[in-house]
This record gives sequence, C-alpha cells and structure tokens, in this order.
Amino acid sequence: MVGQQYVRMLEDHPWFEATRFVGGRSAGRLYGETVEWMGEYEPPARMMEMPVEMAEPEKEDADLVFSCLPSDVARELEPRYASRLPTVSDASAHRMEPDVPLVIPEVNARHLRLLEKQKENRGWNGWIVTSPNCTTTGLAIALKPLHDEYKLRKVVVATLQALSGAGYPGVPALRIVDNVLPYIKDEEEKVEREIRKLMGSFDGDGVKPADDISIAPMVHRVPTLDGHLESLYIEAERPIDPEEAKQIMRDFKAEPQEMKLPTAPERPIIVMEEDDRPQPRLDRNKGSVQGMSTVVGRVRRGVDRYSLRFTLVSHNTIRGAAGNAILIAEMLHELGYLG
Ligand SMILES: NC(=O)c1ccc[n+]([C@@H]2O[C@H](COP(=O)([O-])OP(=O)(O)OC[C@H]3O[C@@H](n4cnc5c(N)ncnc54)[C@H](OP(=O)(O)O)[C@@H]3O)[C@@H](O)[C@H]2O)c1
Repeated sequence: MVGQQYVRMLEDHPWFEATRFVGGRSAGRLYGETVEWMGEYEPPARMMEMPVEMAEPEKEDADLVFSCLPSDVARELEPRYASRLPTVSDASAHRMEPDVPLVIPEVNARHLRLLEKQKENRGWNGWIVTSPNCTTTGLAIALKPLHDEYKLRKVVVATLQALSGAGYPGVPALRIVDNVLPYIKDEEEKVEREIRKLMGSFDGDGVKPADDISIAPMVHRVPTLDGHLESLYIEAERPIDPEEAKQIMRDFKAEPQEMKLPTAPERPIIVMEEDDRPQPRLDRNKGSVQGMSTVVGRVRRGVDRYSLRFTLVSHNTIRGAAGNAILIAEMLHELGYLG
C-alpha cells in the first residue's frame, strides 16, 4: 500500500528517480504483473515495466533507499542497506533506537543531526532515518504549534483508522464490513512513545523524550479506505482560546515551507469551519500537495479554559508514510546529506 504511493509520487519527482524495486513474494516478476493497483488514477507506465528484484543490499548502487518493508524484514535488511547507503524508512523496526532520528520535517527537523552521531556510533557509510507511524504523524503535526504556544500536558485521542493502514490485503472483509474493530496491535503504545520522541528536546547528543505530556490513544479500525480520523481532547499549562488556537494552526509553517521543498504543502495544517468536517473521503487529499496536510476541524473548548477539543484527518499512506519519507529525503538533499 505504501509502495504504491512511492510509485505515484516518484514518477514525476523533480529530484529523485526510482531505479529499482525490491520485493518479497513478487521478486522475479514485473511490477505491473504483481501489483494490485489501488489508486483511482492510471498507474505510471514506466514503473509497471520495471522488474521487482530480490533484496541484495551489499550490491545496491542507488544513491538513496526508501524502505517500506514489513517491520520484521526491515529489522534485518535496513541496517544492511544503511551500512552503505542513506536509507529512509517507514517501518517501525528502528524508530526508537537512540541514535536513529524519527522525523516529521515540520515538527523536529533538528533531530536529523542525530545522523552524525549514528554514523560515528556505527561506523557506517550510510545511515537510517525513520518516519513515524501513520497515526502519530497527523497528530504530531496538529499538536506541534499548540505545544509550542500553550505547553501541552495531556492528550486524549480516539482514532478511526482506514483499512490501507493495515497493508495489503489487510483486514479480512468479513471482519470489517458493517463493523468497527476497537484494537490494533501495538498501535497505542507506538503513538505514545513516538509523540514523546518527536516532541522531545535535542541537545546535540541525543533526544530527551517529552515525558511531561500524558498521552492516551484509543485506536479503532474502521471501513474507510484511506485517511485516519482522530478526535482529540487536550489540556495545556496555559489557557487556550479556541479562536486563537485555530489561527496558530493556520499560520503554522516550518523549514520545509521556507526551503520550498517540492513535496512540502503550502499549509501543513488546514483548519475548516464547517460543523461536519473534516471527513476522510472529502478531506484526506486537501491542500497544495495531495495528502500532505493535516486537516483540522470542530475546534472548540474542552471542559475549561485550559482544554480544547478538535478533530483531524491525515492521509495515512501519504503524510503517514511515503510522502513524509520523501519530504525527509528532500530536506536531507538540500542540507547536503545525500552527497
Ligand atoms: N499502510 C500504512 O498506512 C503505513 C503507514 C506508515 C508506516 N507503514 C509501514 O510501512 C511498511 C509497509 O506497509 P504497507 O502497508 O505498504 O504493507 P504491505 O502492503 O504489506 O507491503 C509490504 C511490502 O513489503 C514487501 N516485502 C515483504 N517481504 C519482503 C522481503 N523479504 N524482501 C523485500 N520486500 C518484501 C512486499 O513485497 P511483496 O508483495 O513482493 O512480498 C510489499 O511490497 C510497514 O512496515 C508498515 O508498518 C505503513
């Protein structure tokens, strides 16, 4: 599912060109013969004709590796790529290692400096940088400007997560049609620890997680195709005025926007005023770069002056995976990390 977004996004990318596909069960066939294409648009013809090969990290000669492997495979293969080549990963396998940056370019670009430490620690020629879990990503983008302004103390979030978040073929139809599953293995723990690492402070040597934020995720799998909806209640140290909070989210911009990176959306957060928005089907692709903005709505008071409620939608396979990884790579290219 994530691989298909890379195929779409790299087809006309101004800086990067896909030169090789690596696969598991599909290795040895053409990509077009094996892929169960899920997009609503025509798949790019050149990519359909490309062979899918077995992973051979020791022979790879690309300048950069994007990994969207299952976590158990990533645990073994990614260090073999990263020992030689820059590697950007969507898998969870290495996200929490102390010298591996976990990055959303608008939230914690400065953590990329961990790569210098990583190369030193491991004696590698390449490195590995990770993109967060798809539920964490949209959440962290919405929380970042609010945390900077109001100093968050508590985040309670209920999620309604799309089917594509489970990969292909994913959840059996008989379990999810006419149903909601109130459990996704390890997801709540991932959201908690990843938000703390993303919001953590960096002292040049390591990341000190933001342990002073309490986070209570409650995750659900629902029968939407793409786009996670998340409903939040937050509490802060300073009073939050809902109108001011909306303006702060609307005005939020960071390094990717300043650097005018090709995959950076003009607005990382889009705030809607309609009573019944955002919705996954209508809003997951909103903004100047499809699927890269977090769409927020229903911003209102919580239980007192220090709390706030709102809803967000974030595209899980784009901003939650391939799009965020490509944006990381664009930033690293601009910063001179790709040689
Ligand atoms: N889906 C999301 O929204 C999302 C968001 C964030 C992060 N992620 C993470 O991104 C990764 C991919 O997720 P997905 O949803 O795209 O899963 P998926 O649809 O199951 O795709 C997994 C991919 O890994 C390949 N693969 C499996 N074993 C392999 C091996 N031994 N060597 C080389 N390639 C192998 C598969 O190729 P074959 O078909 O050839 O076996 C397939 O292309 C996972 O780690 C997931 O946790 C997913």
